[in-house]
Amino acid sequence: MLRYIAAFMLIGGFAASQHANAEPVEIDDLKDNMAKLAAKLPAPAKKQVSYKKDIEPLFKKSCVNCHGPDKRPKGKFRIDTRALALKGGSEGVSIIPAKSKKSPFIYYITDQVIDYEMPPTAKREKYPKLTKEQIGLVLAWIDQGAKYDN
Ligand code: HEC
Repeated sequence: MLRYIAAFMLIGGFAASQHANAEPVEIDDLKDNMAKLAAKLPAPAKKQVSYKKDIEPLFKKSCVNCHGPDKRPKGKFRIDTRALALKGGSEGVSIIPAKSKKSPFIYYITDQVIDYEMPPTAKREKYPKLTKEQIGLVLAWIDQGAKYDN
């Protein structure tokens, strides 16, 4: 009997977790699914965000080694200057100032796009995934204009 209860709980728990994190999508399906995926984003930070204090340290730690000036940038995307970041990469523009929820960028860093989880899932010992609070800061940063000079 106990065994059945355990199996039932396992299946139930699995179903619940599947429901809680609705499926990530392929990159080609991102635009069509954005509204749905947006519902799962953390809340944007409520404060005025400073690029230098709040954002740059996160990018330096988790992104710039692969998306900076030192080697050929992955996905042809550079994050270290505003002009280059807004230009986008192989998949086009990913940061749309003032529109965080329409910015593909936000879905990459929340692991909602298959094969575009940023930082890549296999490299997270070296490049830590952003926390919910940090993602909230990035959302607010984009909504406040994705500035690099404050
Ligand atoms: C270990 C290297 C590595 C790190 C660290 C990394 N990325 Fe990436 N990133 C990649 C690779 C590789 C791709 C290309 C993926 C592909 O084409 O399948 C990519 C693609 C991207 C793209 C899409 C570019 C395009 O248009 O194709 C964005 C945006 C991006 N990364 C943002 C970030 C952010 C933000 C961080 C930090 C939170 C980050 N990445 C950390 C390797 C990395």
